[in-house]
Amino acid sequence: MANIKDNTSSIGFFDSGVGGLSVLARFREILPNENIVYFGDTVHLPYGNKTKEELIGYAKDILNFMSEKNVKAVVIACNTSSAQAYDAIKELYNFPIYPIIQTCAKGIGVNNYKKIGVFATEATVKSGKYSEELKKGNSNIQVKEIASKNWVGIVEGVSENREKNIKNIQYEIKEMLEFKPDKIILGCTHYPYLMNEFVKYAPRELFIDPAEIFVKYIKDDLSKKQLLNEKNSSAKEEFYVSSNPQEFVRNGRIFYIVKELPTVV
Ligand code: DGL
Repeated sequence: MANIKDNTSSIGFFDSGVGGLSVLARFREILPNENIVYFGDTVHLPYGNKTKEELIGYAKDILNFMSEKNVKAVVIACNTSSAQAYDAIKELYNFPIYPIIQTCAKGIGVNNYKKIGVFATEATVKSGKYSEELKKGNSNIQVKEIASKNWVGIVEGVSENREKNIKNIQYEIKEMLEFKPDKIILGCTHYPYLMNEFVKYAPRELFIDPAEIFVKYIKDDLSKKQLLNEKNSSAKEEFYVSSNPQEFVRNGRIFYIVKELPTVV
């Protein structure tokens, strides 16, 4: 059984693929000393078109793996898994589990925004989790969620019509801008990789990447739980994927340099 009070234990991160690296990159800016274990579930990618039952099954398998790694906490660096699986697994483990949506959305909601746009995967939009959590911060907030079906495939290099799909980003942005949002949340951890495309059609300040709020919250909470690893001088990093380790390193490097080829498990 994991020793949950050992602050030198690793922190687990997981996502369907490289998306969680956009969260890890932010995490490293403020917590450079933590040892981490990252799991990219590339064999099941994309998560966005999977059922709730499938997503709960994947999350349990990954959390069991993390438990064997004796982690002190797990970061669900995936909106889709947070939306569809977190409620079913949150009581099952003896370490804190941080889901990105539930940790960040309420705080964004309290900011007096009248209209918030959310780009997310189909499964996240279907769950209604963003609207639910934003309204906890402000019950009058209007939320428009758009499921961007092809964006994860572009980032992971598995898009069949890559050039066309990149070009079509403009239509989803246009549809969102018609709603006149005060801010647009990037509700999938893969989407910050497409920022260079988004800013062709809308100002950068309009977009919120929740990762920043997320990692600040995690730091505060680990500190309260006395789980921060402040004295470690050489942080260890272990990367695992369920398939395609070379592609993982290549696609992820825009945000995070994975130095050794991940182990396939
Ligand atoms: N990066 C994930 C998310 O935040 C999953 C994307 C996918 O695999 O569809 O939702």
